[in-house]
Amino acid sequence: MIKLSEPFFFGNELSFLKKSLEDKWISSNGNIVKSFEKKLQRYTTGDYNLGVINCTAALQLAVRLLNPKKDEEILVPSITFAATINSILYNNCKPVFFDCDNFLLLDKKKIYSFFEKNTYFKNGYSYNKKTKKKILAIIVVNTFGNLFDIDKNFSAFCKKKNIKIIEDAAESLGSINYDKQRRNKIDFSCYSFNGNKLITSGGGGILSLKNKKQHIKASYLASQAKNDAINFIHNDVGYNFMLSNLHASIGLAQLLNIKKVLKKKKNINFAYKKRINKINGLKILDSPEKCSSNYWLNILVIDSKKYGLSKKEIIKKFLNQGIETRSLWYPNHLQKPFNKFQSYQIKNSKTMFECCICLPSSYGLNNNQQLKIVNLLENRFKIKK
Ligand SMILES: Cc1ncc(COP(=O)(O)O)c(C=O)c1O
Repeated sequence: MIKLSEPFFFGNELSFLKKSLEDKWISSNGNIVKSFEKKLQRYTTGDYNLGVINCTAALQLAVRLLNPKKDEEILVPSITFAATINSILYNNCKPVFFDCDNFLLLDKKKIYSFFEKNTYFKNGYSYNKKTKKKILAIIVVNTFGNLFDIDKNFSAFCKKKNIKIIEDAAESLGSINYDKQRRNKIDFSCYSFNGNKLITSGGGGILSLKNKKQHIKASYLASQAKNDAINFIHNDVGYNFMLSNLHASIGLAQLLNIKKVLKKKKNINFAYKKRINKINGLKILDSPEKCSSNYWLNILVIDSKKYGLSKKEIIKKFLNQGIETRSLWYPNHLQKPFNKFQSYQIKNSKTMFECCICLPSSYGLNNNQQLKIVNLLENRFKIKK
């Protein structure tokens, strides 16, 4: 089977794991967690990183740090993994769903139009005209490595409307934006080190924060909100979210190889683009102008009329050849647990769902495997005997 996105182990993982076993420090607050958080700072947006059990927990904490009240609202793209939406609901807040553009990123124009038509500003906060609820934040999602562009206008707009920016960067570790100021415009960024991500810690996440005070608060909440650890005094409801030293050992070992991974991912994308973009009816999803993607996953965009096969047929034909592909997420505003929430002028998300699939993009993908995938697409799956 050619897998969609398999982890790759470089060999140094075992020695890091061995160290944490020898130290008998396998749970949270270990030295390897600290090194992992620190070394990641080259790639993360905030000046302080907190290692947590996964990116979903990082997102949940980010929303919690806004001190949300019941039913307050967070704007979010419909095209994302359900975890983004769940992090809002875990905080008793409500999502308002938005459309995506052709890079599968939040459609900024619709955000501006929503604010113009559907909100009002009172006593320093934005409110939804329909629900009368406060709008706290927007979660921007960097789908498949494409970075959402936070230009000057957008950041000034969010400031003016008092809307915090949370970045779901689960899939975009190592992606670069040419705007050096971008990182300063983000309030919280959340990264994932799940087994299918660019690099992995088995399971893990990073919440990247702007200042020390926030870091202290996040780490307090993530470790059961202990005010007095000796007498077990808790003044708040916390979580058991801290990253273990065992997981961080794998993460740190992988991080030391990130440059190799980024280089290989770029090559995989280049090889796909070179041949697939010449096939009538197919193309590989582009990146926005200011973004150099980490190319975590390559997205095949299908025009079924021109190509002659639908997305469903292509997924099935690949599977018959032992090749794992994956559909784009079904838009969340149409999903059972979320379809009761407000959505604003969503059109493109459904269109993109119907024409996008993820192609195998693992670090370990070899030339022959990639050739097999491209040849099948070129020959429209007619196997030459
Ligand atoms: C866009 C997005 N957000 C959030 C998550 C959640 O990450 P984790 O599995 O680390 O909780 C993922 C992971 O698959 C993701 O792709």
